[in-house]
Amino acid sequence: MATEKEIVVSGIRPTGYLHLGNYFGAIRNYIRMQEEFNCYFFVADWHSLTTHPDPKDLPGNVMRVLAENIASGLDPEKVALYVQSDVPEIAELYLLMNTLAYIGELEKVPTFKDKVRLQPQNVNAGLLTYPVLMAVDILIQRASKVPVGKDQGQHLEMARNFAQRFNNRYGNLFPEPEAFNYGDSLVRIASLDGEGKMSKSENEMATIYLSDEDDKIIKKIKKAKTDSATGIVGSPMPESVQNLIELMKLVSTADVVDFYTKAWDDQTIRFGDMKGQLAEDMVKFVAPIREKAKDLQENKDYLQKIMKAGAEKARARASETLSEAKKLIGIKYY
Ligand code: TYM
Repeated sequence: MATEKEIVVSGIRPTGYLHLGNYFGAIRNYIRMQEEFNCYFFVADWHSLTTHPDPKDLPGNVMRVLAENIASGLDPEKVALYVQSDVPEIAELYLLMNTLAYIGELEKVPTFKDKVRLQPQNVNAGLLTYPVLMAVDILIQRASKVPVGKDQGQHLEMARNFAQRFNNRYGNLFPEPEAFNYGDSLVRIASLDGEGKMSKSENEMATIYLSDEDDKIIKKIKKAKTDSATGIVGSPMPESVQNLIELMKLVSTADVVDFYTKAWDDQTIRFGDMKGQLAEDMVKFVAPIREKAKDLQENKDYLQKIMKAGAEKARARASETLSEAKKLIGIKYY
């Protein structure tokens, strides 16, 4: 008997333009995983409502995330590519799972605390239960692997807790999902100004988006922070230079990476040249994705067809899980 492929789930919020962090933290894994696993990838539109996006921006943002995923190499024939709100079974399991999530633990989640700091005027209940909804996105497909960047590690730990809690109380239904990356550890792409990580809506000049035009990319890399060379051979590489080397590792050849690493070590480094090389390689990487995504976004019919087919596939498995969960909880009467 053929063994069943492992299930993979991951999502991206439609809160802005996708960037290198989204690509190298998540999407790069999706593309490889689609060849090996049974994959479910979605646009987390319900999650995005916790930060009150403008309703007129949402449909376009959702379409762009879909287009950018496909332009990056995701094949909608191989994976289920869908929008979260097209799978209402998620909302029902979320309601059930909320009774197993404790206010105390939710209040302690670092991403919740960050949001309380960033938007004190809008600390809504959806923000508090964000990790429950995220756990349900994963558990409803009974997934075991979740490709995400480093910032989502804590949420995955909570998803495992909720799975365990459900299994202990009602009976075994959910595998315990693990955060996944093909490298040794989860990825975090730093922002170009050395302040935190690249993100969709903050620090625009320090984030490279998959939709950036060539001149924008060049300009952003030129402005990237570098601490000046010390002149002392063998001095440790500052974080700002390390960040540029990390980006080179993603888009440049190994020779280029070696050259500039050595140039730091023997203090012959010229940051202007280094940035010029990185900008050239980055443009080569981003431009084809940007152009393909542009074309795809013009083809709304095609994107809608994909969303619908993806939702159908996602709902099929989600409704089986939901029905099983209700049986175990004791709320299935016929
Ligand atoms: P979101 O939309 O913030 O980000 C989407 C994916 O991109 C990764 N990412 C990064 N990785 C490395 N470096 C960065 N600078 C960087 N910025 C973002 C994120 O880790 C993520 O993998 N809560 C999720 C969406 C979600 C989800 C899910 C994910 C909802 N339900 C179920 C997995 C499974 C989020 O806000 O991702």
